[in-house]
Order: sequence, then structure tokens, then C-alpha cells
Amino acid sequence: AAVPLFAVEMPLVPVLAPVSTADGVDTYEMTMRTQAKEILPGVRTELRTFNGQFPGPTIKARRNRPVVIRQRNELDVDVSVHLHGASVPPADDGGPMDVIAPGAERQYTYPNKQPHAPLWYHDHAHHLEAENVYRGLHGSYLLTDDEEEALPLPTDEYDVLIAIRDAHFDTATGALQYQMGDRARTTLLVNGAPYPYFKVAARSYRLRLANHSNQRFLELRLEDDSDMTQIASDGGLLPRPHTTKAVYLTSGERADVVVDFSRYPVGTRLVLKNTGFGAVEDVSQVMRFDVARTAQDNSSVPDVLRKLPPLPQPTAERTVVLSMDEDGRPDPKAYIDGKLYDHARVDAHIRSGASEIWTVTNANTKVPHNFHMHLVQFRVLERQGAAPRPEEEGLKDTVRLMPGETVKLQATFDAYRGEYVYHCHMLDHSAMGMMATMKIG
Ligand code: C2O
Ligand code: CU
Repeated sequence: AAVPLFAVEMPLVPVLAPVSTADGVDTYEMTMRTQAKEILPGVRTELRTFNGQFPGPTIKARRNRPVVIRQRNELDVDVSVHLHGASVPPADDGGPMDVIAPGAERQYTYPNKQPHAPLWYHDHAHHLEAENVYRGLHGSYLLTDDEEEALPLPTDEYDVLIAIRDAHFDTATGALQYQMGDRARTTLLVNGAPYPYFKVAARSYRLRLANHSNQRFLELRLEDDSDMTQIASDGGLLPRPHTTKAVYLTSGERADVVVDFSRYPVGTRLVLKNTGFGAVEDVSQVMRFDVARTAQDNSSVPDVLRKLPPLPQPTAERTVVLSMDEDGRPDPKAYIDGKLYDHARVDAHIRSGASEIWTVTNANTKVPHNFHMHLVQFRVLERQGAAPRPEEEGLKDTVRLMPGETVKLQATFDAYRGEYVYHCHMLDHSAMGMMATMKIG
């Protein structure tokens, strides 16, 4: 049976309260456990959750104010909690091999020394991450700072997280179906609800779009093809706003947009569409905005959002080649530089303090990939030999690579020493081996 469109209200993801704010540190407690929830009407879906919530609760953090999260694993699988996009010491990075066994707990410390950014957290246990995230282990972590707060952008109830992901349900039982590489994940969930509607006021909103899918590409457009103003990407505000009809999000990417609903009369219903790669009918609509009332609006989008520091002189260059088995064999593998992920091998030795240019290529496969590096927010220098698109002029931690594409990026490794991974963030691909290790120091 088809899942009804626009039948449920979009849930707002609750913000988690710290258990302590003593000594300038916000301490949180989370328990990872199974929880059944009614996602589709009339059936219950068993999920792997943070705190029984789906998606996981939002953490709100401030620059230079550390966060400690005590994570207790009450699931029957290993987990590793990674804060995606964060600059953290290796022991707190939640790497693929650094797992929390069932019944165990551990504490992660996040220094939050980096600028504001819409980060997110998710499981990263090697070879389990794709299924664990798919079954619900993902949540948002919004890091702010004075620079961001000084801007007159929409705030409070007009600043809304919209976390999108796909899923494949057995619609009779509600069970989430998981198979690696499955292309039939054709139900879209927004903040955990299928194709919801969201009642908005006729004014400007900041919508924090996030793609928490395993591998779906989203290309988001308003149904009337009107403009959105993209103001932020993975690593926070763009240098200047980018007016666009489409927002591109591969799995793991985030984009904040400002949409001014005051151009619509109260009563207007406006669908957010998806025209992304491989978008079949079921996933061509995401959610609906229902303009329900008027409201005052003192917000605005300044012409300059942020000044990024100039890029340092690069000290090294390297290439990264993505490839995968595409001959239809069962249990296909995916590779970086022709190699499967092996945690015992260091693939890139990086001098501490180095600023490197990485040329990452998807010239050799017929499917889209993307590329994510832990620890750093990088800058895109070139896409296909041309200047980056306006939405890629800010800080990024994940960059899309359509078939045939090559991207040049620059990353500076001056925060921490140690081992971190880089990988395709189509999580089924990283689970298939498309992941490698860099060692800084
Ligand atoms: Cu979003 Cu290696 O992770
Ligand atoms: Cu991939």
C-alpha cells in the first residue's frame, strides 16, 4: 500500500537538556536502545534509537563551550558514535574500530573550538554503520557562535531543522527492510515522519536541511520553482547568500536555506519536491508547507554572511580515486585507490600543520558517490576544472561526486594529531570498503 502524502504534521525534533552545566561544560546522557514507534499509520516500526527518539534528540552547542556525552549501548550490536563535521581528538572521534560493545558505555568529549556549523551525529561501527544509521541512529548537533548569532537571520520557532532520509518499509508489518545497496528505499521521512505537512507563518524561515539517508541524493525544489536563499552548508554560513531554485544534498550533507513564505497568501499549500538522481515517483515529493497565518518578521539576510580566512599556501598534493564492483556480482566491494578499508593500514601520512590539496575523482564508476573527511572542514577549489558552485564556496566536510566528476579541495590539518578516516558517505559504500585512514603527525 502506498504511504499517504501530507497526512501527518511534521514533528519538531526535541532539543536534549544537559544533565549538568557545571564548570562551563554541558554534559549529556544518552542511551542507545531499540524502540518501536508508529511511523506508518496503524503499524509499529522497530528502530535503533538514541534515547528512544527518532531521529535522535538535537544537541545545541556553543563555540568554546565543551560538550560531554555519556553514551550507553543497550542495543545488541556494537556502535561507535561519530560527530560528523567536528574537529575532535582521535579518541573522541567515534572511529569505525573504536566501538562501544553491547552493555558498555563511554564518554565522548567535544571541545567545540571550531566555528558554528550544523553538525550531526551517527553510528560509525565498521560494517554495521550503514544498517545502524538506517535503523535510526542519527541526530543533529547544532553548534553556534557569536558571529552567527549577530546576524539578523530568522531564529527561535522560525529556525527549523528538517532532517530528511529515505527508508524501505514492509508496509504490512511496518518493519524496516535493510539490505546493503538496496535501491528500493522509496519512502521519505522528514524528522521521522512520512511526507509530513508543516504549518508555517507567512514570513521568513530558516530551514536547516539535512540529508541523513544512507545513499539517496536529494535535489530539493519548491513546487512553484520559486527561489530559496541558501545561507549555509556543512561547515556553517556561506560567505554570501546564494539564490537558487535547487538545493543539492548527498547523504551526509547539510544546507540551510531561508524561504520567505510572505510571498504566498494564507491558505497556500506548497510541496517541497525532490528531483535528485534516481528520484522515482515515490520520492519526488518530500513534504508540504501550509501557509497558515500571518506573522511579524524582523529578520533579514545580509549580503555578507561571513568572512572566511584566506587559504594557506598548500604544502602537499594527493589524489584519491573512488571505484567499486559494478558487474552485478553478489556482495560487491567498493574501494579507495583500489584498496578496501583496512584499519591496520595508514593510507595517507600527513604532516601536522599541513595544508593539502586533494584531487578526488569519480571518473571510474557509473554511479554517484560523495567524499567525506573526518576532522576537517575543507574548501572546494574546483569542480571539473571550473570554479566551485556558489553553494560550495563555504566550508564543507562532504562533497558530491556525480559519475565522471573530479573535485579539488584543500584541507588544513592543524587541530589534532592521530588517525582519522575519510570515505564515501553513501554508507552502504563505506560499509563495502570505500574508506581509508589518514594519519596526522
Ligand atoms: Cu558522517 Cu565518517 O561520517
Ligand atoms: Cu560511494
